[in-house]
Amino acid sequence: MEVREAAVEGRSSSRAEQWWRDAVVYQVYVRSFADANGDGIGDLAGVRERLPYLRDLGVDALWFSPWYPSPMADSGYDISDYRSIDPAFGTLAEAEQLIAEARVLGIRTIVDIVPNHVSDQHPWFEAALAAAPGSPERERFWFRPGSGADGSSPPNGWQSIFGGSAWTRANGDGEWYLHLFAPEQPDLNWTEPEVWAEHEDVLRFWFDRGAAGVRIDSAALLVKDPALAEERPHSGPGEHPFTDRDDLHEIYRRWRAIADSYDEPRVLVGEIWLPDAERFARYLRPDELHTAFNFDFLGCPWEADRMRRSIDGALAAHAPVDAPATWVLSNHDVTRPVTRYGRADSSFAFESKRAGTPTDLERGARRARAAALLAMALPGSMYVYQGEELGLPEVEDIPHDRRQDPMWLRSGGVDPGRDGCRIPIPWSGDHPPYGFSADGARTWLDQPDGWAALTVAAESEDPASMLSLYRAGLRLRRKAPWGGGAFRWIPSGDEVLAFARGEDFVCFVNFGSEPVALPPGAEILIASNDLEGGAVSQDTTVWLLNPLGQGEEGR
Ligand code: NOJ
Repeated sequence: MEVREAAVEGRSSSRAEQWWRDAVVYQVYVRSFADANGDGIGDLAGVRERLPYLRDLGVDALWFSPWYPSPMADSGYDISDYRSIDPAFGTLAEAEQLIAEARVLGIRTIVDIVPNHVSDQHPWFEAALAAAPGSPERERFWFRPGSGADGSSPPNGWQSIFGGSAWTRANGDGEWYLHLFAPEQPDLNWTEPEVWAEHEDVLRFWFDRGAAGVRIDSAALLVKDPALAEERPHSGPGEHPFTDRDDLHEIYRRWRAIADSYDEPRVLVGEIWLPDAERFARYLRPDELHTAFNFDFLGCPWEADRMRRSIDGALAAHAPVDAPATWVLSNHDVTRPVTRYGRADSSFAFESKRAGTPTDLERGARRARAAALLAMALPGSMYVYQGEELGLPEVEDIPHDRRQDPMWLRSGGVDPGRDGCRIPIPWSGDHPPYGFSADGARTWLDQPDGWAALTVAAESEDPASMLSLYRAGLRLRRKAPWGGGAFRWIPSGDEVLAFARGEDFVCFVNFGSEPVALPPGAEILIASNDLEGGAVSQDTTVWLLNPLGQGEEGR
């Protein structure tokens, strides 16, 4: 890997008010980041100890997956108290300290808000179960009588995203309640003003504590068709009974007004899985969310043409609403890139997860390196999920009795679930827990043997490691060698993606098996893999300075 920093010294772009437009946001999955008290579960004290690591990595913000009190039926996405911290992770005071300490290091904090559902142990749901059918307590949720003569069948055929019916029968009086995810995650009824008021208050609670923004879980699912119409195979835009309904936008307009009311305006980031780019972009209109995750890019196979279309599609969809695109390669829900890109079909889709498919991890790692530099060079913001910067592979051989994910449990083991990308981070040493916990502690998900070379300590010593690449790439990115210049494709063969930003920066990715010569005179800023006699070999990304002065022929 080559790095030429001197060439871009002094070209920093202004990163003031609209920091979120090109921020690098690092996702912390607290349970698996660092464990300071030795109980095998990551905690806030562990994160605080490792803040210098995150500063040195060069990230602008941290997004914390839910850290609230939770029975952990879905790893914290089942919240029983939105204004506190799970005791396994620490205290509210520690969270406040963490937010403040990170900010001193120049790192902002984004907290995860889960407005679609609560835990079945949330006081509202407990009150609803204790109350009678038709009561105001039940109106906060979707309680309905069952269908069939004796009401013993679910009210309709909606399916849970985790598998099985989306309805569970409440004890006692026979009503059913809706849960688009696990039965421990009852859906809230967003036709109720109290539900709106509660969440607006939760937003203020975290904004008042210094959170720079929120990541909004399942952001396109909150509003349901009150008629509970069945899903139809070809429903038109906005007609699906529980996805992307038009009434959602008013919720986010109100949230945007709250975010904008702060001296440093807060930021709203949506988790929106929608195939229709135009519908997706509606959430990013100037008075709604600031950004949303680009899952099309995340799921895109490692193929030049598909990547080009994905990038074009994202830029075209965002332009009319003047929102920045986001570039996401992984998160806590999807197969790790090193594994995904090592497969013959390197796309990602929940419906077709492929545990146990033949995987070439070496190839996957090479592609993941190239993908990282590609993502870092694209205009917009970037997300890095903890462990991605270490090139951790998906762990696919977790014993059944150690698995935690409801996706695995509710599919009867058909879906491999998401535990394999949530394994605790290896920090140092040559055996589990690799410095994640005190030696001898058993981590909540077991780490594999054989991760000694993937620890932060080992990779820090190795200039050719994934971590060294991320550090160098993010350092260069921060200096914006493109100087704010516009994105444009430049001519290249079918197996190559090449784009310029501004007059003298080019990012060049070779997907094909034939090495490709670089234009004469081009200065190499960084390359994801060593060049072969000046040529870019397969699955390699290179950032170049001043290649355009030489004309565009030869590419
Ligand atoms: C999306 C989250 O990323 C995922 O982990 C969670 O299971 C569901 N939403 C339900 O909250």
